[in-house]
Amino acid sequence: MPLITFKEMMEDAGRKGYAVGYFESWNLNSLEAVLEAAEETNSPVIIGFGCSVVSQEWLDRRGLDYLAVLGRAAARKSLVPVCYILNEIQTLEQMERGVRLGFNVVMMDTSGLEFKKNISVTRRAVRTAHAYGTAVEGELGKLPTAGGKEDSSAELTDPGQAEEFVRRTGVDALSVSIGNVHLLTEGKAQVDIERLKKIHEAVKVPFVIHGGTGFPDEAIPDAIRFGVRKFNVGTVMKKAYIDEIIKRTSGMEIDKLDIQAVVGSRKDEDVFTKAKNRVKDVVKGLIKKYGSAGQA
Ligand code: 13P
Repeated sequence: MPLITFKEMMEDAGRKGYAVGYFESWNLNSLEAVLEAAEETNSPVIIGFGCSVVSQEWLDRRGLDYLAVLGRAAARKSLVPVCYILNEIQTLEQMERGVRLGFNVVMMDTSGLEFKKNISVTRRAVRTAHAYGTAVEGELGKLPTAGGKEDSSAELTDPGQAEEFVRRTGVDALSVSIGNVHLLTEGKAQVDIERLKKIHEAVKVPFVIHGGTGFPDEAIPDAIRFGVRKFNVGTVMKKAYIDEIIKRTSGMEIDKLDIQAVVGSRKDEDVFTKAKNRVKDVVKGLIKKYGSAGQA
């Protein structure tokens, strides 16, 4: 059961009352961790790559092509239903290339655009993507980014605007800003479920929560009740990955290593396999919280 349409995936989640995790990968280890976690819990999953924190020069020159091939192969070999997203792309050109390269969902980072401009850019994206049978996740509102390096101001999603945005753009899903915070490494965000409820009354497309790492566990059931069908997760996976590598390499002496075993063997001694397994455990835990375990 490889690639399925985003529509099918979201409809199943809506019918049965669960959400699907989009677990953002950055290399082959993390991609495999996500797929294995989904297979071991018998869960549908969204795989893919984020484009907002990577070097745009790398992405435009060859990154997009690499990622597309990797994801397509992973989806083809998967034992559970998979969607394959190109997330937070920065330009319409990247979006169009992603669609042609076979991603079956695309999401443009339009958080910096004012309402009318957001509608016109997103509408163009939808027109292009839909012509290839690719779904589009739109974004209305702006999430604050933790860490202090980027803009930390939030613009919460307005229910009335959300209705107009979805109607005029034709997006297949909507990313909402309800207090969720991007890239939190400590603590949890304070989320406004009342606002989500109002958006849900106005709009019927599936909702997406970015900033899954900092989303409070106790708010997950209500979020699903009021239309959230997809959680985006990244930071907590990267933290687990690098933490494991630090732990496993801190006492190593380079001259005493079985270097072939430790780097790239994919056997138990491989440091990166150990890190992959840590990421897998994190993803499995979240799959259970989102209720998608056993739904494949
Ligand atoms: P976190 O890294 O905060 O989990 O968010 C990831 C995300 O929203 C990717 O779109």
